[in-house]
Amino acid sequence: MAKPNRSAFIVIEGLDRSGKSTQAQILHERLTNAKTPVELIKFPDRTTAIGKMIDSYLRSESELDDRAIHLLFTANRWELASHITTLLASGTTVIADRYAFSGIAFSARKGLPYEWCRGPDVGLPAPDLTLFLNIEPAVARARGGYGEERYEREEVQRGVRELFEKIGREMQTEGSSWVQVDAGKGKDEVAEDIWGAVEPLIGSCDSPIGRLWD
Ligand code: TYD
Ligand code: MG
Repeated sequence: MAKPNRSAFIVIEGLDRSGKSTQAQILHERLTNAKTPVELIKFPDRTTAIGKMIDSYLRSESELDDRAIHLLFTANRWELASHITTLLASGTTVIADRYAFSGIAFSARKGLPYEWCRGPDVGLPAPDLTLFLNIEPAVARARGGYGEERYEREEVQRGVRELFEKIGREMQTEGSSWVQVDAGKGKDEVAEDIWGAVEPLIGSCDSPIGRLWD
């Protein structure tokens, strides 16, 4: 078999409090223990200049037009896009904690047109696998509750979940790898389900890095 020429790009998506960050961390450790080079990236990346504007908006310290904040979230992905492709090409597996799917789901829930929301993310590095951590918003809320940030309300999360489901159906229709994981289960069980989906990809990506929706 031909030697794989790059590593895998794995995205973890889901509602707030669905366990994304915990599961991304567990997956990171598991790959590290398996001697697979891996880097975990979190969106929004609040450390960049754009990320700081997003952070301020999320903490309600500033107000922005819905389209303006949407474009900032997208720009925050584009500013890391070449870093992601460089890592993948050099054999480092990349795990992203949220990605373009959050961008669309959270903005379209505010009433922005779905296709308008998707446009600026077209062409980003395409995940080889997207794991959607599916949870009932009421269960998510009961998990130690939401924080103080914008969007951390059950009614918002319900709308966002419907949009994630729409995105998932479309991804599956176009043959992209979108896997729904029952995130209502215990932490270890969820981690096992995730590993079952990720393991076959490790060391087996030999097609060029795709471009999202291109
Ligand atoms: P989140 O991952 O929840 O950050 P933290 O773990 O620090 O709480 O992301 C913050 C919020 O940003 C979350 O409610 C989802 C929202 N979001 C968007 O609205 N658009 C986007 O493109 C992304 C990546 C996140
Ligand atoms: Mg959050």
